[in-house]
Amino acid sequence: MRKILAVGITAAMFAAGTVIAGAAEIKSLRGDVPLNAEAKLFKKKKVETVTGGRKRAWKLQPPTIPHKINKERITLDENSCFRCHAHDTYKAENAPMISKSHYKDPNNPDEKNLVMRRYFCYQCHVPQVDAPPLVENTFKSAGN
Ligand code: HEC
Ligand code: HEC
Repeated sequence: MRKILAVGITAAMFAAGTVIAGAAEIKSLRGDVPLNAEAKLFKKKKVETVTGGRKRAWKLQPPTIPHKINKERITLDENSCFRCHAHDTYKAENAPMISKSHYKDPNNPDEKNLVMRRYFCYQCHVPQVDAPPLVENTFKSAGN
């Protein structure tokens, strides 16, 4: 029993050591510069949009956004996505209309406006970027 415990503790210490050693290799963006000193400006990552666009991976997937959104604003008073995607603007802007499903409220069938649970578009729609996945996964598109 004691032997097993000793092996266990050694293994745990070894594991902890590996974690600490691993942590030491992580560098912050400002490098090893102390907080009270001025660090060099680091290069901002440039995120590229996906050339040719990215299709939906399954039929009811919220489509990913095929254009830049850095000038858009979604706040309590303003949602600039409506400028092109609302039912009264989409034709002039030649953009797809916000899905009809976003105007249907199961608790209020007479609702004509966008249902508020759809107001914060980024909750479900994210911009397309050409970035490798952070964690390896085996996801395969359903081919839609
Ligand atoms: C200046 C007009 C404009 C604005 C503002 C705009 N979009 Fe778009 N959006 C478009 C156009 C046009 C398309 C069609 C694809 C393309 O040409 O890029 C599109 C495509 C999309 C699509 C893909 C739809 C599909 O069926 O594949 C999504 C999702 C989307 N936009 C979300 C947003 C969100 C969220 C915002 C606000 C953050 C926004 N858009 C702001 C013009 C706009
Ligand atoms: C709660 C999740 C959710 C939110 C929030 C949301 N959407 Fe969607 N959206 C979806 C899903 C899921 C689909 C695809 C299925 C469907 O049409 O309902 C979709 C589809 C779309 C489409 C494609 C419509 C088509 O006919 O192909 C557009 C454009 C769109 N959304 C724009 C927006 C905009 C703009 C906002 C913010 C005002 C927004 N969505 C908020 C989930 C969401």
